[in-house]
Amino acid sequence: MTMRVAVAVSGRGSNLEALLQSLGEDAPARVVLVLSNRPDAGALERARTHGVPTEVLPDPTDAADWLDRLEHHRVDLLVLAGYLKLVPAAVIARYRDRIVNVHPGLLPAFGGRGMYGHRVHDAVLASGARESGATVHLVDEVYDRGAILAQGRVPVLPDDTPDRLAARVLQVEHRLLPAVVLAAAAAGRPVPLPETVESAS
Ligand code: GRF
Repeated sequence: MTMRVAVAVSGRGSNLEALLQSLGEDAPARVVLVLSNRPDAGALERARTHGVPTEVLPDPTDAADWLDRLEHHRVDLLVLAGYLKLVPAAVIARYRDRIVNVHPGLLPAFGGRGMYGHRVHDAVLASGARESGATVHLVDEVYDRGAILAQGRVPVLPDDTPDRLAARVLQVEHRLLPAVVLAAAAAGRPVPLPETVESAS
């Protein structure tokens, strides 16, 4: 049975694009809905290009509205791909262990409230860490705390800027997220990946 996937986005949607491109006609998972808190998110245009229905949340804190939309589209798995708001607790409770998030750092380090986008890469560089990477994890009620499903590592290079590091990490995100969704479709629920995805570039 095809796993029905909803993707929540707030921004440009490169992870959404990577996921859509990796799921061909016969894939065991299909993106059936893209949700955004922002009507101007570039990700919505990408979804439309792929013929995927898009909906904008008028109030992202309204759990009943979320649940109506997810149930209407018979969603099995919710993917947060650059979604920058907190998902309401009642949604997390109803979809427990069926919500995953991609984070541009090696959790549990460099995570938590306020740690998103460039703030993560700034903090990694400021810390002097020798490596960074991406994490896909289950979502629970606390930012970036849920069980880790997959991680991919990249080196931090001596002349790195936040932009350069972000670009290197993003390449890993684009491989990890589809891999986790495909593994979830095969298993019927999100499961940890046995291997990590490395990038040396
Ligand atoms: C990614 O780095 C993701 O890890 C973070 O926000 C960024 C979203 O990028 N949560 P995109 O919208 O998928 O291009």
